[in-house]
Amino acid sequence: MFRKCIESIAPYSPGKPIDEVKRELGLDEVYKLASNENPLGPPESAVEAMRLAAGKVSLYPDADCFELKDALAKFHGVKRSQIILGEGSNELLKLLSLAFLEPGDEIIMPQPSFGEYRRTAQLCGAVAKAIPCTEEFCVDLPAMVAAISSRTKLVYICNPNNPTGTVVDKHLLKQMMNRMNDVIVVLDEAYFEFIRDEKSPDGVAFFKEYPNVVSLRTFSKAYGLAGLRVGYGICNEAITEAINKVREPFNVNSLAQVAAIAALNDSEYLAKSVEHNKVERDFLYTELKKRGFYVVPSEANFMLFDSLRDSSELFRALLKKGIIVRSADIFGFKTMVRLSVGLHRENEAFLKALDECMGLN
Ligand SMILES: Cc1ncc(COP(=O)(O)O)c(C=O)c1O
Repeated sequence: MFRKCIESIAPYSPGKPIDEVKRELGLDEVYKLASNENPLGPPESAVEAMRLAAGKVSLYPDADCFELKDALAKFHGVKRSQIILGEGSNELLKLLSLAFLEPGDEIIMPQPSFGEYRRTAQLCGAVAKAIPCTEEFCVDLPAMVAAISSRTKLVYICNPNNPTGTVVDKHLLKQMMNRMNDVIVVLDEAYFEFIRDEKSPDGVAFFKEYPNVVSLRTFSKAYGLAGLRVGYGICNEAITEAINKVREPFNVNSLAQVAAIAALNDSEYLAKSVEHNKVERDFLYTELKKRGFYVVPSEANFMLFDSLRDSSELFRALLKKGIIVRSADIFGFKTMVRLSVGLHRENEAFLKALDECMGLN
């Protein structure tokens, strides 16, 4: 009795939770560098906002998220009616699929990239065309554009791309936009705030120029609120209206709404979070290179490196030492590992454990 299209869907496989690893392996100290979370913890301003709002959770949240949309509209210089909110940007991927995709339609996505583009498309009976990244692990825009057919509705550009951490060139994207008039171009910018490369595009600026662009952002990464599940999209009103038809009425809970407003206004936290990431990303990059590994230069809060051995084995060996990373096996790279940037002591613990696993110590 199950729908045919779910037969081929692989359920999302999350990074291993810290408590599970502690329980299974009898470890006291475990560091998770697997899910691209913010190692600094949530902004205190957001925690305080939730404390104040906690007494009102007997009431349903504001279904329209008026205050949060208002804050985002001012922050980005767009209209409130051009904002969609979701239970994480992940939900927005599903809502876009529900709004656009009929059975047999196509989406185009990079390979490797965030698997949820494919999964949410498959939920609607649509097909994902995955276009391999270049040899430098960059999203291959011209190849993606060349793959567009009359069935293509959504083109996903993950920028920075998960798991490679690479960004596309805004000038090239501009050239390509002229060839993507008949599709919706979704710029998934979950890691946007971490980008330092000025050649990288700003999805909101692109949206202001091209009405078929959707910019997806999240409070889960640079804003440190992954556990609250709140993300947003900026797009034209026809799309926000369609999304409002397919979403649940109260998809962003009341604590998430107040915390997100506080985090958005907390520029000090954001600056600290971005600076920490830059310093520690550089540290890990340099240390891994020093050990002779190939590391893909990253603009995000994670990086992909070639461990030169079976990465699933390395994952298990590191796990025994209390370090959770992400084997890039799931992305089809047998020897590559995706590593999230942690606190300095976590990064040092990772390097020590890696050295031991590699027999360098
Ligand atoms: C590229 C990308 N997009 C979207 C998401 C979803 O993030 P969230 O649902 O927490 O906003 C993630 C999460 O890791 C991601 O890596």
